[in-house]
Amino acid sequence: MHDDRRGPLAVPQLDDDDMAALLAALAGGSSRVEHCQLKNRAVWIKRYQRLGARIGQRLQWLASRLTGVTILRPAPLLDPQGMLDREVRQINSFSAAGFKTPQILYRGTTALVLSHLGLPVSKQMGALRDKDADGHDALLVRCAAELGRLHAAGLCHGRPHPRDFIIDDGEFCFLDFEEEPAAVMPLAMAQARDVWLLFLQIASRALKPETPDRAFVAWKLAAPAETAVALSQIMPFFARLLPLARFLLRIQNGQDLVRFVAATDYLTSATQSQS
Ligand SMILES: Nc1ncnc2c1ncn2[C@@H]1O[C@H](COP(=O)(O)OP(=O)(O)O)[C@@H](O)[C@H]1O
Ligand SMILES: [Mg+2]
Repeated sequence: MHDDRRGPLAVPQLDDDDMAALLAALAGGSSRVEHCQLKNRAVWIKRYQRLGARIGQRLQWLASRLTGVTILRPAPLLDPQGMLDREVRQINSFSAAGFKTPQILYRGTTALVLSHLGLPVSKQMGALRDKDADGHDALLVRCAAELGRLHAAGLCHGRPHPRDFIIDDGEFCFLDFEEEPAAVMPLAMAQARDVWLLFLQIASRALKPETPDRAFVAWKLAAPAETAVALSQIMPFFARLLPLARFLLRIQNGQDLVRFVAATDYLTSATQSQS
């Protein structure tokens, strides 16, 4: 496990020029996530100071209170320091369990500097979409299989999405740990929520009809049995919203609705046929 409290002067492999460039970028930039090219390597600066109104999370909280539905509970609203701490904590527990995550090169009070891991799966999919449907969908199946391995290790990603997964030289890496649903609901339910979130992508982006099934089998092969049970328990809640979502889709063709319908439709029947 790497030491997440090392100071800037102890950053490994960075010479004086790189340190100067990094410090200038840290001091000069303000964007939340910034790619920073040093002489021989790339790093990412992630800042935690501008939080905005976070209306979505507040509405989610209200919906969970009004309906009493646990699965809707948002992670606690944290201040910037709390969010940075949470990301560090998650990176450390993932890497302690043997999963590849960015290395923390510098930890400040409002910013982290992370090692560059490679190209996100979403970009790799974009490059394959029009010329290699098998390769494109194989990436989705791999994401599901890796999520299953993660769940088997007692971990939960929180917001799994191909843009926050990286495959570099065949090695799978996890990024972006801003949500921690296991802090507000039982682990199996938080992991089931992970599956539904990932299938929002898989069921809507798959190019071949058999891909969601292959992905679900790949996840289930590795995942704990109690998470599969939790998934079949949460799906009826989402399924009840399907008629409304389908109705809204006829009025407005929003991508979020398309994903909701595709994932909920698929997982409802997949979990029914497993029981
Ligand atoms: N260490 C890293 N290695 C490679 N790409 C990264 C890294 N950190 C961030 N990125 C890229 O930047 C994007 C945004 O970073 P992320 O940590 O997911 O923040 P956000 O909260 O904005 O989603 C990621 O989806 C990924 O494409
Ligand atoms: Mg992200």
